[in-house]
Amino acid sequence: MDNKRSQWGSRVGFILAAAGSAVGLGNIWKFPGRAYEGGGGSFLLIYLLIVIFLGAPLMITELSVGRASQSNIVSTFQRLGHKGYSWVGWIGVCGAFVITCYYCHVGGWVLRYVFGYALEAPAIYEDSLGYFYEMLGAHADGTTSVPWTAIGFAAAFTALNAVIILKGVVGGIERFNKIGMPALFILLLILLARTVTLPGSMQGLKYMLSFDWSKVSFSTILAALGQAFYSLSIGMAIMITYGSYLPKNENIAKNTTLICIMDTLVAVLAGFIIVPGVFATLGEEEIGKGGGFAFVSLAKMFESMPGGRFFGVLFYLLLLFAALTSCISLIESIVAFLTEKFSLQRKTATVWLCLILFAIGCLYTCSQAAVPLHGIWLDGTNGVTYPAFCDFMEYLTDRIMIPVCALGCCIFVGWVWKPEKAIEEVKSCGAAFKLAGIYKILIKYVAPVAILTILIMSFTSGMTLS
Ligand code: TRP
Repeated sequence: MDNKRSQWGSRVGFILAAAGSAVGLGNIWKFPGRAYEGGGGSFLLIYLLIVIFLGAPLMITELSVGRASQSNIVSTFQRLGHKGYSWVGWIGVCGAFVITCYYCHVGGWVLRYVFGYALEAPAIYEDSLGYFYEMLGAHADGTTSVPWTAIGFAAAFTALNAVIILKGVVGGIERFNKIGMPALFILLLILLARTVTLPGSMQGLKYMLSFDWSKVSFSTILAALGQAFYSLSIGMAIMITYGSYLPKNENIAKNTTLICIMDTLVAVLAGFIIVPGVFATLGEEEIGKGGGFAFVSLAKMFESMPGGRFFGVLFYLLLLFAALTSCISLIESIVAFLTEKFSLQRKTATVWLCLILFAIGCLYTCSQAAVPLHGIWLDGTNGVTYPAFCDFMEYLTDRIMIPVCALGCCIFVGWVWKPEKAIEEVKSCGAAFKLAGIYKILIKYVAPVAILTILIMSFTSGMTLS
C-alpha cells in the first residue's frame, strides 16, 4: 500500500491479502481462551451469530465505503462529504495502534517457540507451563525478573516486520500465504485428530459443545463481539483502506462471505484443538491461568505424535507467517495514514512507529507475569477491578475502541451516507446483491441497536443472562 492509490493485481491477490490480515494470532492464540472463558458452546453460538449478523454486514460496509471514497481511514469521511464523522476513523487508527503494540510481542513469542521446538523440544515437553512462564520472566522457584527472552524475540519480530515493509517485499510474504494458509489449515486438521484421541480431551470437547449460560453475561457478549470483529479485522476502519484498493469489478458481498467463512473456520478449529488440549494436558485446575493456551497446551500433542518435533516447528512457523501478514497489514495501515495525513516520509514513519510500538508492547509483556502493572476497569458484572495491564490493553481495544468504531461506521452508513449508496457500490461489479434488503435492515437498525445495547448493558448491568 503506497501513497498512490494502487489496486489489487487480481482477485486472488485481494482475497489473500484480506484473509491474510484476518487469519492471524486472533484466531489461534486469542479465540480458544475467550471461548473457554465464555463457557464453550455458549460462546461459540454467540460468536457465530455475531459473525453472521453483525460482522459480515460491517465488512461489506467498510469495504464499500473504502471503494467509494478511494481514501484512507480518516480522510474517507471527509471525502464523502461528512467531515464530522472523522472521529470514527481516529478511533479506528488508535485501536489499530494499541493492538499492534501487543501484536508485535505475541508474534515474538511465536518466534521463540519456533526456536524452542527446533532446539530444545524436550524442555517444552517436560514442563510446558513452566517453559512459557520462564519466557515471561516468572521462574519455577517463584521469583520473577525482567522477561528478556520474550522482549528479545519481540524485538526481532518487530524488526522483521519493519524490514519486510521497508524492503517492499510485502507481496512476497502475501504470496507465501497462498501455500502457508492452506498448509496451516491442514496442520490444524491433523492436530484436531490428535487432540480428540488424547486421554482426557473428551471432557474438553464436551465443554466446547455445551451451553453453560451461567458463564454468560453482557460482558461475555461484548467480549465475543470484540473478538469477532478483531478476528475479522473490522471495527478499526482498516477494511476501508483495503476497499480503496479493490477494483470496481470485484464482488464485495461474495468476497466478504469467503473471508468470513475462512476466518471463522480457522478460529473454531483452533478452539476445538486447544480447549480440549488444555483439559487433557493441564487439567481444570491450571486452566484459570489462561493466557498462554496456544503455547502451553499443544506440547503434549506434539510430544505424543510421531514426528512431533517437526510438526511443532512447522506449526509455529506457519503461525508466525499468519501473524506476520496480519501485523504487516496493521503497521502498513497506520503508516499509510501517517504519511498521508502528516506528510511524513514512509521510512521515517515506519521506523519510528515500530520503535514506539515495541516500547509500549514491553509493558504488555512485562505485566503478563513478571511485573505487577495494572490498569483500571469498570463493568456491570464485576464493578471496579484492576486487571493486569496486558488485559487492560486488550479490554481497551476489544471492548471499547472496536465496538465504538464499528458503531460509528453503522450509524454513518445507515443514517448519514445511506445504505443505498453502499448497496450501489456492491452492485457496481455487475452482479446482483441478493441480500440487499436484509443488509439494509441489519446495518440501519439491527447492528447499531445491538452494538449499543451490548456496550451499555455490559458497563451498567450486573446481571448474568441465566
Ligand atoms: N484479524 C487479525 C487476527 O485475527 C488481527 C487484526 C485485527 C488485524 N485488526 C486488524 C489485522 C486489521 C490486520 C488489519 O489476528
